[in-house]
Amino acid sequence: MNIGPHFLANNLFAAPMAGVTDRPFRRLCRQLGAGYAVSEMVTSRRDLWNSLKTSRRANHDGEPGPIAVQIAGTDAEMMAQAAAYNIDRGAQIIDINMGCPAKKVCNKWAGSALMRDEALALAIAQSVIAVCAPRDIPVTLKMRTGWSQSHKNAVALARAFESAGVQMLTVHGRTREQGYGGHAEYETIAAVKAAVRVPVVANGDIDSPQKARDVLAFSNADAVMIGRAAQGRPWIFREVAHFLATGTLLAPPLVAEVRRLLLDHLRDHYQLYGEFTGVRSARKHIGWYVKELPGAAAFRQRMNGIEECERQLHAVAEFFDELASGCDRMPAAPAAAAASPEQTVAVTQ
Ligand SMILES: Cc1cc2nc3c(=O)[nH]c(=O)nc-3n(C[C@H](O)[C@H](O)[C@H](O)COP(=O)(O)O)c2cc1C
Repeated sequence: MNIGPHFLANNLFAAPMAGVTDRPFRRLCRQLGAGYAVSEMVTSRRDLWNSLKTSRRANHDGEPGPIAVQIAGTDAEMMAQAAAYNIDRGAQIIDINMGCPAKKVCNKWAGSALMRDEALALAIAQSVIAVCAPRDIPVTLKMRTGWSQSHKNAVALARAFESAGVQMLTVHGRTREQGYGGHAEYETIAAVKAAVRVPVVANGDIDSPQKARDVLAFSNADAVMIGRAAQGRPWIFREVAHFLATGTLLAPPLVAEVRRLLLDHLRDHYQLYGEFTGVRSARKHIGWYVKELPGAAAFRQRMNGIEECERQLHAVAEFFDELASGCDRMPAAPAAAAASPEQTVAVTQ
């Protein structure tokens, strides 16, 4: 599929997750089969652009294209300026955040809170498109199904955004009110897809190849976006791609491969964040990788006492060497293991 002039390798997208989908993690997801990965949101507040956090988020060195940057804010003019700022720093696609329920964002009426003020939401889209269109930069938008169960306006907004020139819409199948509770529903995503001609991306609770297939079939969406299920399992993209192409499940990856992937991920992570922040912020990723493995709790505890890159790398290598002495492959993901028993094929990656 395409987003404007950009051809994507497939229709499996890594979701933007603040504090998670930084450049090293996006690169890994792309390497492991995601056709597209959107950056963590960048604030539209100009006074924060020089902060270390925002400048790290605006750094796309070595990232495979198309480079998509998500912007968040409440003021149409500031959002337009944020789009221009990020285009000047390499963004090839600008994504507008109307999906994030975090308080920090919502108290300022940004993120999914914007869905409650349709006129402002539309004004923001128009203003961002006005600076992006002359530069041939497609504008996409990510939203939820609505503000609350009684205020599901994703279809009406989708039509308005399409008329304004938004070129792709991602819908997380929850309302703002739900936060991350309950379950995502895909009826509203199907209704959005039926209402517009631009590509629609289905998001929410997709955690296995079978679920990806079912959501694509049910919603008729053009692509699926995976967030939390990729934390510590970035190879989920290749598992979904393989299943959609062949109808068979890949065997879980070899422990030796995951050891290598994680060590490479950590080195890339330290390069972006430096030793002090890097070792600390890497702990959550390491925790996700080992979550289902024997000895995970004690290992995570041990990680908290380590403050140097070399020692963290060494401890991770040792943990996986120990694991490899007892088994060849990682355990199957809980969601995939519980799903229907299609034929499983073993591959050596
Ligand atoms: C830690 C975390 C951070 C997130 N940050 C963002 C963000 O910056 N922008 C955004 O549009 N959505 C954000 N989201 C929402 C995800 O992109 C996605 O819509 C949501 O997690 C549902 O998909 P999933 O069930 O596959 O995780 C975040 C989610 C999580 C868990």
